[in-house]
Amino acid sequence: MTKFLFVTDLDDTLVHRTVGDDNALPELNELLNRHRQEYGTKIVYSTGRSPVLYKELQAQKNLLQPDALVLSVGTEIYLDGTDTPDSGWSEILSPEWDRETILSLAGKYPELVRQPDSEQRPFKVSFFLEQDLSANVLPQLEAQLQKSKLNVKLIYSSGIDLDIVPHSSDKGQAMQFLRQKWKFAAEQTVVCGDSGNDIALFAVGNERGIIVGNARKELLQWHNEHPADYRYLASSFCAGGIIEGLNYFGFL
Ligand code: GLC
Ligand code: MG
Repeated sequence: MTKFLFVTDLDDTLVHRTVGDDNALPELNELLNRHRQEYGTKIVYSTGRSPVLYKELQAQKNLLQPDALVLSVGTEIYLDGTDTPDSGWSEILSPEWDRETILSLAGKYPELVRQPDSEQRPFKVSFFLEQDLSANVLPQLEAQLQKSKLNVKLIYSSGIDLDIVPHSSDKGQAMQFLRQKWKFAAEQTVVCGDSGNDIALFAVGNERGIIVGNARKELLQWHNEHPADYRYLASSFCAGGIIEGLNYFGFL
């Protein structure tokens, strides 16, 4: 056995929010914790949640203390339990990032409903957008943002959440920042997810990927269009699917 870098989304990947219970979570926590102690495996949680909503989940679920926490869809990286985002990462995101202009352009679309204040972050502007309106609104908004030469990327998840973040940021690029910092090869890295904002984790390189059995259709569709032998589609849900995938790749 050797150490590996374990990166997982939280909602409906590590923990159940909408699809059942957390039966397999204690077993997965135990396996990962033991691996960390014995081999130096690193554990990273990567979520769309802000610090406020992450703390809420921490109070509800049995989470481990991760070696790094990636919050707000990859725009904030917290190392070793600190409360201050890594400044090296913030510096990579800041050139040409302009929240105010994004807000004023987006304000022209009545279909975009602002998410709560806690989810508006220094490098993330977030809205709710109904699925049936998205096919029309997203291309228009994207074209307008590009025309204004803003440093942005749109990430749409779960048929409702729209995040606007810097172009150089997403869960995938944040994961690679940590992978390079800690010197893990792509083959020694495994990423796990269930929805649209996790596509970046699977798409950025050839890290091992686990798609949990309850994945959302936007991720399954992307997976079908971009098949890869270093990606595993589990049949079990959430933590159970992660255990299945870790065994499949021989990490455990
Ligand atoms: C989390 C965040 C929300 C974001 C969504 C998708 O639910 O709270 O702001 O839009 O993840 O990334
Ligand atoms: Mg999720």
